[in-house]
Amino acid sequence: MRVAIVGATGVLGRALVPMLLQKSYTVRVLARSTAKAHMLFPQVTEIVECDLLSNIANELPSMLEGCDIVAHLATAIPSDFTAPNAWEANTRLRTDGVRMLLDASQRAGVRRYLQQSITMAYPDHGDDWITEDMPLDSSPTRARTTAPVIAMEQMVRDTPLEKMEWCILRGGSFVGKDTFQQDTIARLRAGKESVACDGRNFTSLIHVMDMASAVVAAIENAPAGSVFNIVAEPLRQGEYLDRLADSIGAARPGRDNAAECPPSWRCSNQAAKTALHWLPSSSIIP
Ligand SMILES: NC(=O)c1ccc[n+]([C@@H]2O[C@H](COP(=O)([O-])OP(=O)(O)OC[C@H]3O[C@@H](n4cnc5c(N)ncnc54)[C@H](OP(=O)(O)O)[C@@H]3O)[C@@H](O)[C@H]2O)c1
Repeated sequence: MRVAIVGATGVLGRALVPMLLQKSYTVRVLARSTAKAHMLFPQVTEIVECDLLSNIANELPSMLEGCDIVAHLATAIPSDFTAPNAWEANTRLRTDGVRMLLDASQRAGVRRYLQQSITMAYPDHGDDWITEDMPLDSSPTRARTTAPVIAMEQMVRDTPLEKMEWCILRGGSFVGKDTFQQDTIARLRAGKESVACDGRNFTSLIHVMDMASAVVAAIENAPAGSVFNIVAEPLRQGEYLDRLADSIGAARPGRDNAAECPPSWRCSNQAAKTALHWLPSSSIIP
């Protein structure tokens, strides 16, 4: 089976590609920089130049020819969230990019399409569990983040299953090598981290190796037309940061009671465990 991956050179892709090769899949990497892809994946022979934000609608189907499965893992999170148009590329990847990849995949006769999404698009549910049937957050206050995700998922859901089987994987915040967790650890070491509000909000995290194994599980087991939360057991944010600080011998972070309380995302992974036969196995605390 041949799997095409857009976004293979990112944190998740770098964990996923070796797992697929290990399981004897043929991997085709569609990368902005073929030099970077060749350096990261010397064992991958099918590396194709592809910038999903360029005008490649006509060429994309031939780039996917012969592929059974396509996974869209591309993202463009800005380094400076406040810069003008900071989110434009990410929004376009989640809208125009998804539209183009869905169309090209169908034209190329791809059987299964996997869309990486995020659990952070759910609204705040306090201490209640969040399951996949609950709507994403369409409130205007969070629209910059959530509107493109809602649009992205809707485009995927609108794909008739007789044309292409699809599956959406809503990942929690990644932890592990090269993730935001390493910045958090650096701030804890420097005594610069604090817990916003009282720290009782839930956070749903996932180790990037477990996210990658969930993609493999979805390739192999996902029912057509399915959506899954891919998260480890949720933790309260304060508890997470305290445990992270303990693990590196740093002082526990203080509570910033004046800060706005972040949304609480206590996401359930029960559906993924049952339907994908997947289990997270890497510790959230390194
Ligand atoms: N990070 C998290 O905490 C988190 C949590 C939940 C879900 N997710 C989702 O998981 C997926 C992977 O995230 P990640 O952390 O692995 O991201 P990442 O490390 O930032 O990697 C992003 C990937 O997208 C590629 N890309 C960017 N712009 C592109 C374009 N115009 N055309 C083609 N490819 C492009 C990048 O290529 P270059 O190497 O050339 O830059 C890279 O391969 C994304 O869908 C993200 O939304 C992430």
